Amino acid sequence: MGKGSGYGKVILFGEHFVVHGLPGIVSAIDSTTDAEVKKGVKGLQIKDERKTAKGYSEEKRLQQIESIERMLKAMNLDAKTPLDIWIGGSLPGFSGLGASAASSVAIARAISEELSLNLSNEKINAIAYEAEKAYAGNPSGIDNTAATYGGLMWFKKNPAGGQDVVEKIHIRKPIEIVIGSTGKVANTKAMVEGVADRKKKNPAKYDPLFKQAENLAVAGRKALESGDLKKVGDLMNENHRILQEIGVSSKELDQLVDIACKQGSFGAKLTGGGGGGCMVALTPGKEVQGKVVGAFKGAGYEYLMTRIGVTTY
Ligand code: MEV
Repeated sequence: MGKGSGYGKVILFGEHFVVHGLPGIVSAIDSTTDAEVKKGVKGLQIKDERKTAKGYSEEKRLQQIESIERMLKAMNLDAKTPLDIWIGGSLPGFSGLGASAASSVAIARAISEELSLNLSNEKINAIAYEAEKAYAGNPSGIDNTAATYGGLMWFKKNPAGGQDVVEKIHIRKPIEIVIGSTGKVANTKAMVEGVADRKKKNPAKYDPLFKQAENLAVAGRKALESGDLKKVGDLMNENHRILQEIGVSSKELDQLVDIACKQGSFGAKLTGGGGGGCMVALTPGKEVQGKVVGAFKGAGYEYLMTRIGVTTY
């Protein structure tokens, strides 16, 4: 049997904008999706035992099958290779946490082990990028890169299809965060296409917002590296506002962001594709982290308490 894992992630700056070649900042979190793969006898048999938001597995089922077929093709294998696949791990199947990319990396690693392909991380990342196309249509590559390598990183897609810019960001110590889940499953592909359409139709509105998002990522990196967490939080709030303007937030996401800020979070924003899914609150120290968690619980939302800057790259 082959085994593999992939990290979940939060995007601190730049989701959606990264698809268009602007920079983003992503951190892996210390929750993983794990996979086990055995050669099978009949088609793809998938046992998905992840904890998920209601309806997640059903909503993603067809995309999941397409993603595995894409992976097999990228490995130069028959797309119909019979495989028995188990998926589990500590990363919940909530939209926005890179669960699809984490599962693709985990499955690719497990297939590589089971079939003795000995694939490098670079190859696993490239295969997971192909798989991401099933979930995101035109992915930037930020999710699969974080899922493969872990760590806190600066990411900039190469629009010409060559090497992306991936740079490690150094911080003094890991920072506590709270991830709040709206419980709503989101379709990343539809969200990415929606932004691209609106940008095309209304450049007068969207071009300045894209420029602001780029400036925020640059300032966010500086603030993270210099340890100015208040500034990081302010910039995250600003990033959330821009994401609202490009039409990817939701009532529940705004409510979670609001609750987090009222409880002393340094800053909060939606994370990932939006339209449901998750948000992230920057909550340095156990005390503020606990307060935000308490308020999310009180309002009936699921959450994940974790830290950024812990996993290695
Ligand atoms: C999804 O986690 C992030 C998006 O920017 C899509 C992508 O970059 O592939 C919405």
